[in-house]
Amino acid sequence: MPVHIKASPGEIAENTIAVGDPGRVDLLSGILEDARVVNTHRGLKTVTGFYKGKRVTIATHGIGAPSASIVFEELYQLGARRIVRVGTTGGIRRDTRIGDVVVATGAMYVQNGCGLGQYIPGLCGASSPDPVLTTRIMEALSKNGLNFKKGPVFSSDAFYAEDPSFAEKMSHYGVVAVEMEAAALFTLGWMRGFDTSCVLVVSDVLHGEEAMKKYLTTEELAEVFLKIGKT
Ligand code: ADE
Repeated sequence: MPVHIKASPGEIAENTIAVGDPGRVDLLSGILEDARVVNTHRGLKTVTGFYKGKRVTIATHGIGAPSASIVFEELYQLGARRIVRVGTTGGIRRDTRIGDVVVATGAMYVQNGCGLGQYIPGLCGASSPDPVLTTRIMEALSKNGLNFKKGPVFSSDAFYAEDPSFAEKMSHYGVVAVEMEAAALFTLGWMRGFDTSCVLVVSDVLHGEEAMKKYLTTEELAEVFLKIGKT
């Protein structure tokens, strides 16, 4: 049994959704059948059940790459073979609007950031999602009438260090939005051998008049998360 997720291998499904907030595990596990809580240790609430007949685990990864990396590693040790992060993001590209859905096609991070400098000293991680899984997710989103934007995100280690000048710089590099865990997820996926993907909801934007002024409420976010979860 791993150190943080106190579950047994049989209790974690091959298909796993990982979210930062344990409240979102409660929200999304509401659409599962036969949902069973398999971990609460460390506040990393994890639930396994069935969605449309398929076994699924929904796990909390916490905030930031160090917490999330522990959860991704342990989910993999316990049998997860596909991990899809569903989370929030701050819009960077000027066409991103609060409430938009963004599919991450890659993740930038600062040199040695996201804990990856300790995993792969002196090198940059292969921080891209699995292309086949990501294409399938984009097709399913479209089929369900959910519009989305796609492109690279920036995985930040410092939520409160971001400001509009940071957004302008990142936008210049082609980054669509900022979040905190995708680079660690994608890189660990290639290192350990599990498929990854990341679907995000824009909860705030770092550009224009609304820059850092408005944040979607838990209830507003819940609506979009449920639509993504049902995809
Ligand atoms: N998640 C949602 N908004 C974010 C932001 N501005 N920075 C990092 N992660 C986020």
